[in-house]
Amino acid sequence: MKFSTLASGLLALAPFSAAAELAKRATLTRVNNFGSNPSGVRMYIYVPDKLQANPAILTAVHYCTGTANAFYTGTPYARLADQYGFIVIYPESPNDGGCWDVSSRATLTHDGGANSNSIANMVTYTIAQYKADPNRVFVAGTSSGAMMTNVLAATYPNLFKAASAYAGVAAGCFYTGTVAGWNSSCANGQSTASQSAWAQTAQNMYPGYTGPRPRMMIYHGSADSTIYPQNFNETLKQWAGVFGYTYGQPQQTLSNSPSSGYTKYVYGENLVGVYGAGVTHDIPVNGAADMQWFGLSGGSTTPSSSVGPGPTSTKVSTSTSATPSTPSGCTAERWGQCGGIGFSGCKTCASPYKCTFSNDWYSQCL
Ligand SMILES: *[C@@H]1O[C@H](CO)[C@@H](O)[C@H](O)[C@H]1NC(C)=O
Ligand SMILES: *[C@@H]1O[C@H](CO)[C@@H](O)[C@H](O)[C@H]1NC(C)=O
Repeated sequence: MKFSTLASGLLALAPFSAAAELAKRATLTRVNNFGSNPSGVRMYIYVPDKLQANPAILTAVHYCTGTANAFYTGTPYARLADQYGFIVIYPESPNDGGCWDVSSRATLTHDGGANSNSIANMVTYTIAQYKADPNRVFVAGTSSGAMMTNVLAATYPNLFKAASAYAGVAAGCFYTGTVAGWNSSCANGQSTASQSAWAQTAQNMYPGYTGPRPRMMIYHGSADSTIYPQNFNETLKQWAGVFGYTYGQPQQTLSNSPSSGYTKYVYGENLVGVYGAGVTHDIPVNGAADMQWFGLSGGSTTPSSSVGPGPTSTKVSTSTSATPSTPSGCTAERWGQCGGIGFSGCKTCASPYKCTFSNDWYSQCL
């Protein structure tokens, strides 16, 4: 199993008390009764102290071996929730190995009673409980969480308005017919299909649905040797097919966007691909770009080449080697990770912020 490699560089196993001490703020909280939960997914929620009226919701989905707490401490979303007043739901996998079920027929079906259904029920519960804005419900995830992000976009297009997926696969690509199976053919980039076939796979997950679908932003690194980069192409084919774009003909190709070393393929307002040259499976979350994509930072949601890395993005290694090395001459921005076991990004903080030790797995620019 390759589970350990999925988590390296992203792990942040701080106990809750230590996480809370990263800064004085609200804490991650377990929610026990959020509705029907046949597959036993655990729900955690982060509600910032300064919550907007009718807040937006971001569902943030962890990688294999991950936990809600690891994703809470290891990604910028909770910090951004403090800044912009939205709620973050962190579902936690009940499956062995901590991967999401993105492989069973049930999870690949709207209201199929598996992991995707449980996560959708968390969203519905949160909308009711906090009078959240149903038109601002988003999902983002990394690795297995990115696979789930694509699955949620296909199974609950009625619920989610936009999605951001880091190093995942097309919805349905990981099918094995078993719960939380590992589909090597897909992982290794050997499951290829036409854009119409991929689109059909997604559409079959909610037959008869004709309403709006979430805008999709798809990230992948060219040096990903866990979930091969071909999955970038296949995922873009899938959503290009769903939205009626042509996979091979993005409207715009923007170099060094949204940050240095990445190329952005803009198909239209509903689909953007972001490909990182030399970036491995440890692809960092670009919080600023996600906020803009979701329209949560108050800016335009239209992709733009002029958007530089914001205060919450992390600089990445542009090394072409599969083993990430620490980039030299770079700085991590405020709130960014700057150290910890398995961390390979910039270890110097942008002035005036200091790299502050939190635990063995996580230091942060504060
Ligand atoms: C893996 O998924 C592909 C579709 O992506 C499918 O054709 C293949 O049968 C699956 N493999 C297994 C072992 O189920
Ligand atoms: C997949 O997409 C990347 C980025 O656009 C491109 O460089 C690569 O050639 C594509 N692969 C295939 C097989 O089309």
